[in-house]
Amino acid sequence: MTTSEQWILVSKLQDIPLLGARVVTGAAAGPIAIFKAADDTIFAVLDRCPHKGGPLSQGIVHGHAVTCPIHAWNINLENGCALEPDEGCTRRFDVKCVEDEVFLRRDQLATL
Ligand code: FES
Repeated sequence: MTTSEQWILVSKLQDIPLLGARVVTGAAAGPIAIFKAADDTIFAVLDRCPHKGGPLSQGIVHGHAVTCPIHAWNINLENGCALEPDEGCTRRFDVKCVEDEVFLRRDQLATL
């Protein structure tokens, strides 16, 4: 398998709203939210809050974190974990941007 085959194109960069997210479906783990921070950093985490499963993709991004729209937990997008005083983590995924395209790793999409 070549390096390029290990990554799957999931979105164009411009299709991810600034300070928001685009959801990618079809992964074994569930829907994946791809976020764009104010500094244009891209993050990918499972679209499921570690508290009670709220849709993180509908939250607001601030810095490298997102506020869950359900009970306002703040989730660190760098590792998928809740910021203190809350506890718990959602799954994060490796993400790669090449020019204006966003890729996720094939092996991570295939595993629960
Ligand atoms: S479900 Fe996200 S804070 Fe409760």
